[in-house]
Amino acid sequence: MATILVEDGALLAAMQMSAGIVESALDSLLPQAEGAEQRLVEAMRYAVLGGGKRLRAFLVMEVARLFSVNETCAARVAASVEMLHAYSLVHDDLPSMDNDDLRRGKPSCHKAFDEATAILAGDALQTRAFEILAEPDTHSDSEARCELVLALALASGAHGMAGGQMIDMLAEGQSLNAPQVTRLQALKTGRLIQYSAEAGAILGRASHAQKQMIIAYGRDLGAAFQIADDILDTEGNVADIGKTVGKDEAQGKATMVAVLGLERAKQQADHLAAQAAGHLDSFGEKADLLRALAQFTVQRKS
Ligand code: IPE
Ligand code: IPE
Ligand code: MG
Ligand code: MG
Ligand code: MG
Repeated sequence: MATILVEDGALLAAMQMSAGIVESALDSLLPQAEGAEQRLVEAMRYAVLGGGKRLRAFLVMEVARLFSVNETCAARVAASVEMLHAYSLVHDDLPSMDNDDLRRGKPSCHKAFDEATAILAGDALQTRAFEILAEPDTHSDSEARCELVLALALASGAHGMAGGQMIDMLAEGQSLNAPQVTRLQALKTGRLIQYSAEAGAILGRASHAQKQMIIAYGRDLGAAFQIADDILDTEGNVADIGKTVGKDEAQGKATMVAVLGLERAKQQADHLAAQAAGHLDSFGEKADLLRALAQFTVQRKS
């Protein structure tokens, strides 16, 4: 079923539709500003609008749909996670981190503006992401909003994305083994993707058992996603991925390609994608797009 959906373009159409909804949510949740902070808001909008696959947003929207969540509420949470993600990319590209000048086919934020502005834009995108989750329009139940805030904090802090980025930086030039790279990737990328799926379940007040299955799906999907990112850095092309290629090897990054080689890394990504889809069995046909997304994650060219 999932294969058919990918082939007939249903997944891409659904992703495009959700990306459109999220783009307009982002636009209205980040209005232009006047006065001294105008430049900061411009840099935030530059980093988050008009680009990216919106995969994390799609995960929020699509899991929320499983539980019949109001689309406007889901779009706010989807926009929030895209802001958090955009912040992580702005900081990831800084000269002191990956020193990347190209992002989403455009100059990285610090190139288009300057380093100080990029740091502040990342900071403010992160803060705005949490602010949106806490706002009453996100969910009528304050307990659900609190749960979203807590889950995003856990996914992005010292034991999530930021912690993973620390391991990534410390691992440059070191030879990590496969379990170590798995942990690095689970933190730097996996946790935020896992959160995106979980957020849809939190919005939908899913049962504990349902939430656990969604979390397991997000965890395996996130692991497959970062291996695919490593593979694209090796064999993708700039025009498709909109970022510099070959940088991982040049910078001595600890990637799954470096540890396993290209072929075994591909097998591992495929295995994780299939395992991700397997966690959705109990959701029936309603979860077909999420199953297709697992396949897209490892087949994508960008
Ligand atoms: C890139 O993420 C950074 C990683 C965590 C691997 P994406 O590949 O989702 O980037 P965009 O949002 O589509 O630009
Ligand atoms: C970045 O991983 C993960 C983040 C938390 C941003 P990469 O450094 O591999 O991401 P790209 O390849 O620059 O998008
Ligand atoms: Mg990096
Ligand atoms: Mg990078
Ligand atoms: Mg990469």
